[in-house]
Amino acid sequence: MGRLDDRVALVTGASGGIGMATMRRLAAEGAAVVGTDVVDESGEKLVAELSEGGARAVYQHCDVGSLDDVTAAVERAVSEFGRIDVLFNNAATSTGGYIPDLDPEGWDTSLRVMLTAAMYGMKAAIPHMAAQGGGSIVSTSSIYGVVASPGNAPYCTAKAGLINLTRTAAVEWGRKNIRVNAICPGVVETPMYDSVLGIGLKTHEEISAMHALGRTIRPEEIANLVLFLASDESSAITGQAIVVDGGLISDCNLTGVPPA
Ligand SMILES: NC(=O)c1ccc[n+]([C@@H]2O[C@H](COP(=O)([O-])OP(=O)(O)OC[C@H]3O[C@@H](n4cnc5c(N)ncnc54)[C@H](O)[C@@H]3O)[C@@H](O)[C@H]2O)c1
Repeated sequence: MGRLDDRVALVTGASGGIGMATMRRLAAEGAAVVGTDVVDESGEKLVAELSEGGARAVYQHCDVGSLDDVTAAVERAVSEFGRIDVLFNNAATSTGGYIPDLDPEGWDTSLRVMLTAAMYGMKAAIPHMAAQGGGSIVSTSSIYGVVASPGNAPYCTAKAGLINLTRTAAVEWGRKNIRVNAICPGVVETPMYDSVLGIGLKTHEEISAMHALGRTIRPEEIANLVLFLASDESSAITGQAIVVDGGLISDCNLTGVPPA
């Protein structure tokens, strides 16, 4: 018995580090998975691998910045597998820069892909979930939805907005047995983290040392949280933004006393 037998899950950003790990984890627990992304080759490869291993898995191209694409992806889940139980809003792209230098177009794109897209997903999936008796929506925010960093306003703003979109959806749809939660990862070893290291101002060792656990996070550790929130094991949890960061933002060491 898997923890998600007979469930159907849709994952956006399925060609990326966290998306791939989550597709694998949900499929391993019995879910039928619909992977979506704008980078088709790796998503299609993953779905082929999962299908060969006996999972029910399909891939669909979907730019989450397009309501039509997102709606079509949700409809694909329903037409292919008969329902949609889990929506994982996870895709992201962002521009950066100091606020006076921000390009308005880049700002709009960042907010559309990381915030508006989650609303599109909810808009498309909630009617199906309500009609079938419930569902679980999980959106990938970030520690930058809770704290901030210089030069990162579009990302920090979108991720913070996602947390209150999550709470709003939770209070709006809880009576229909739809739970809505956000996850707030810290530093996860994916291509996105490679681009942070690519800035060249902090090394992996320096970043690791900032964590209470003394290390960064693997995508599989995020996938475990998504699985928990997708499954009935989290049946009383809704409207939450759960930080999974290895203790990174808990550390505000003013005294210089070293950890044990
Ligand atoms: N890696 C980290 O340290 C970290 C930390 C906190 C939060 N996150 C969040 O985790 C999520 C997954 O990121 P990741 O670390 O796996 O990064 P990633 O770059 O590996 O994956 C992001 C995926 O989103 C896809 N994408 C980009 N624009 C898209 C669009 N318009 N439509 C559909 N897909 C699109 C990309 O093609 C990519 O596959 C993101 O929401 C990110 O903000 C990551």
